[in-house]
Amino acid sequence: MRKPVIAGNWKMNMTCTEAIEYMRVLIPLLNDIPKKDREVVIAPPFTALYPLSEFIRGKNDYLSLSSQNVHWEDSGAYTAEVSPLMLNELSVKCAIVGHSEPRKYFSESDEQINKRAKSAQDHQLIPIVCVGETFQQREMGEAERVIRRQIEQGLEGIEVKKLIVAYEPIWAIGTGKTCEANEANRICGLIRKWIGYEDVIIQYGGSVKSNNIDEIMSMSDIDGVLVGGASLDPTNFARIANYEKI
Ligand code: 13P
Repeated sequence: MRKPVIAGNWKMNMTCTEAIEYMRVLIPLLNDIPKKDREVVIAPPFTALYPLSEFIRGKNDYLSLSSQNVHWEDSGAYTAEVSPLMLNELSVKCAIVGHSEPRKYFSESDEQINKRAKSAQDHQLIPIVCVGETFQQREMGEAERVIRRQIEQGLEGIEVKKLIVAYEPIWAIGTGKTCEANEANRICGLIRKWIGYEDVIIQYGGSVKSNNIDEIMSMSDIDGVLVGGASLDPTNFARIANYEKI
């Protein structure tokens, strides 16, 4: 039985003050969701992890925090990086790795992403490993090959029972162009087959909104979502977390 994970990736948004205000609105709106059938995760910027970890402690047992990245070393001369030990201290549960933005802007490789994912698992963090093709790759019929390579290289040596994969087609991120639900479901099914573990959690990400969440979550191979823009408003995100299958 796969438990869906609804995650909000705030990217480089929200000061600490804004983050606390957000949680004050969000938490009461989550109180009615069926608690045992899904988990809700927020990935704020690093600066907001500490105040949020203090704020949510004891308030809601199915709401947890994720970092937006994690380094493979515990400490050292790695300016601008964050260590898994620093995240452990704040009761962070997950770590996003391999998001297409650091892949694109900072040329992150599958090898680095693999090291980050392993480091997360070595420190009891669940890596949310992002994969997905560009528009050109899809147009050229290369989407499956690209995603398969990201899966094989990014997940080498990874414990599949403590893993979340997010399929995020790059052309659907922040563009308003959601991947058609059946097509997203087909790719998520392929990813599951390539990983070879039926119970791996596979999310979809890319222009998820309150008006398409119910359809997306009705798909058989989609076990949750990774939401960017629409997670920045707590009322909107609460509607997404409160999805109902159709
Ligand atoms: P949007 O929901 O804004 O398209 O972003 C998706 C994403 O990148 C989540 O990690």
